[in-house]
Amino acid sequence: MRQRGLRNRPRLLEEGAPYLAEEGKELRGRWREKFAEGVPEGAGGGAVAGTDGAADLGAQSAGLFLEIGSGKGRFICDTALSRPVDLFIACEGGYHIYPRILQKAAKSDIRNLRVLPQYIYEARDFFADGELDGIYLNFSDPWPKDKHGGRRLTYRAKLEAYRDIVRPGGFIAFKTDNDMLFDFTLGEMEAVGMVPERLTRDLHASEWAAENVLTEYEAKFSEQGKSINYVRVII
Ligand SMILES: C[S@@+](CC[C@H](N)C(=O)[O-])C[C@H]1O[C@@H](n2cnc3c(N)ncnc32)[C@H](O)[C@@H]1O
Repeated sequence: MRQRGLRNRPRLLEEGAPYLAEEGKELRGRWREKFAEGVPEGAGGGAVAGTDGAADLGAQSAGLFLEIGSGKGRFICDTALSRPVDLFIACEGGYHIYPRILQKAAKSDIRNLRVLPQYIYEARDFFADGELDGIYLNFSDPWPKDKHGGRRLTYRAKLEAYRDIVRPGGFIAFKTDNDMLFDFTLGEMEAVGMVPERLTRDLHASEWAAENVLTEYEAKFSEQGKSINYVRVII
């Protein structure tokens, strides 16, 4: 995602501070505790559709979900608002991008969302074995050159790391407009023995369309007439 300078970055960081998970790797194995700390009353200040009181944040029964590469956060914020009993981590490393997620979190007081403001290269450093219930990878950067295949978020070694940090029965879900990246991903999944439980080359015309939550990129590409690829594997 192209990064434009954010003139109001300091203000967004200040308003969004309660939703920030700056501790990063220190939270490995302790993410539920982080949510259980809660968000101070009155945080954000602009609560309109917030999740206050809807969840026992940090309860063992709540699902814990991660999106890697959240962009400006449309998908993860809308998902967190619609599922207030679950917990969501938006991981986004873009210096001028993740404050946008904080802005949305503060505006709608999304208490079951935390923003991990870093690029993740080794997921096991941030999450303990089986700590997550699911991982979302949405419109990940394609890294089109073959020599950069290892940087793709669906490269086989990364998939193996995701498999470790997702509990048995949890999932990895991936969607993209990019056919090359999708084919690469299916190959990598096969290479590590992952079998698709869901697979479609046209998500919006599929049986999963009704439950689909749009991302910023998805809205843009589907407006242009591009069909969306989607695959989900169960761990
Ligand atoms: C193409 S954008 C897609 C954004 C969003 N998911 C969407 O669908 O609209 C990819 C985003 O992933 C972020 N990103 C790429 N690699 C990442 C990593 N290893 N850890 C965290 N964020 C990453 C980029 O900064 C960028 O904002």
